[in-house]
Amino acid sequence: TEISEDHRTGYHFQPKQNWINDPNAPMFYKGIYHLFYQYNPKGSVWGNIVWAHSISQDLVNWTPLDPAIEPSESFDQFGCWSGSATVLPDEKPVILYTGIINEDPKPGYQVQNYAIPENYSDPFLTKWIKPSDNPILKPTKETVSAFRDPSTAWKLNGEWEMTIGSKVDKLGISYLYRSPDFINWTLVDHPLHQKENVGMWECPDFYPVSTTSDKGLDTTVIDGDIKHVFKVSLDLTRFDCYTIGKYDTNQDKYIPDEGMIDGWAGLRYDWGNFYASKSFFDPSKSRRIIWGWANESCNQDEYVRKGWAGIQLIPRTVWLDPSGKQLLLWPIAELETLRDQNVQLSNLVLKQGDKVEVEGITAAQADVDVVFTIPGLDKAETYDTKWDEIFPTETLAENICQIMGTTVQGGLGPFGLLTLTSKDFEEYTPVFFRVFNTPNTKRKVLMCSDAMPSTLNNQEYKPSFGGFVDVDLADNKISLRSLIDHSVVESFAAGGKTIITSRVYPTLALGNNAHLHLFNNGTETITIESLNAWSMKKPQMN
Ligand code: FRU
Repeated sequence: TEISEDHRTGYHFQPKQNWINDPNAPMFYKGIYHLFYQYNPKGSVWGNIVWAHSISQDLVNWTPLDPAIEPSESFDQFGCWSGSATVLPDEKPVILYTGIINEDPKPGYQVQNYAIPENYSDPFLTKWIKPSDNPILKPTKETVSAFRDPSTAWKLNGEWEMTIGSKVDKLGISYLYRSPDFINWTLVDHPLHQKENVGMWECPDFYPVSTTSDKGLDTTVIDGDIKHVFKVSLDLTRFDCYTIGKYDTNQDKYIPDEGMIDGWAGLRYDWGNFYASKSFFDPSKSRRIIWGWANESCNQDEYVRKGWAGIQLIPRTVWLDPSGKQLLLWPIAELETLRDQNVQLSNLVLKQGDKVEVEGITAAQADVDVVFTIPGLDKAETYDTKWDEIFPTETLAENICQIMGTTVQGGLGPFGLLTLTSKDFEEYTPVFFRVFNTPNTKRKVLMCSDAMPSTLNNQEYKPSFGGFVDVDLADNKISLRSLIDHSVVESFAAGGKTIITSRVYPTLALGNNAHLHLFNNGTETITIESLNAWSMKKPQMN
């Protein structure tokens, strides 16, 4: 197939061609970052899954290597599915991954395997060996086709522990396994965690976060001033949901904090297109980084024609919000090395109906950081409490964004950015806020990233993604950063409190024909306290 460049991203991770999905086993080893990922070497639909492998010194510029793990043995001949790396003492990385040993039953008969580097002194970890004592774990009768995605391991009482995603009927389960030597694993008599009515738990991730610092912690840290995060990818809704809680090392169980909601009515890393993420601890910069995958939201015929499908989103540093009630995620600092041509604005007033173009940057490939000032909260529109009854909690924000797009005038908002705008606004992908007064004293701040007006192509899936931002606006300010890259807009509100990623496929707002605007369609005047926008350079990308 000829690769169509329309909609290909400039600075997001992708291979030259073909299908990709989950990021796997990210790690830092001997000065090099490694990213493996689910890859179809034969085409741009899911299938024939191998572990593709790329390396980087800065998480921005990437060099491809040969696939690290490919189907070859009886324990993985129908696919090498997701998994994780653990760096054992003496700098010895091990990968745990799911092998498919039969295509039946659907989606495949699943076992767990391990792989080790052929040569530990090779910082590129070019070749991986699958020892002959694989598989190391087999499913039970109940879980043959729902037993996958082993996590990074931690240590408890001198033994290794890790968790594997599963389900029994609709009960989501994170099975717990223990090993003295990383090869012989036994099932612990209770799961790390489980939850009714949520379905399969894919790609579980379990890690500590500091309660006193924004630095990251190695996965083996299990006590001190910490909390634990438990994330699963919910295949029924395709969102990465997490809770914050305590790893009770006496019971060897994870216990979410009071008030945390397990499942898709709870917290999400991202309220848009972001799935199957994996975190790792980067010892070189004492931070924890999350990688997530965004699939295409165009239809399959289109990406088959394009010859590629899927991107990895910009890696995000993660730490605990001082409230302890949520995480904060922010694009890795290294991304800023791609910032080029810069435009700045300050104290720009946006009256009701104003649209102001941000000129002088490549609007289709940009990084935009804005701080909005609002005059006060009195004139915010009233939150309609009926919405709480007619919309399910888990889709509430998205549903409001759907009925209250940019053209619906409000009091305080909608205001924000119109990204990937065509010349006469036939197409635009708005990222915006709307502030509501509620019957109690608490305000509701809604963030939307609306693909509905993004393209004239009516074949596309155009969700109006939304999320609430937990801020009180006491300082009358709210910030928004958007990473715009041809067919993806990743937006971070209030320093990483709420994040939404949209995939969009403009037909006119392409390349140099794409524009960027600020807008306000609320009766209250908004001020752009500051805006900083950059053209983004293209890194070396595989
Ligand atoms: C998540 C997932 C994993 C599985 C892999 C297969 O997207 O379904 O559960 O291991 O993708 O490619």
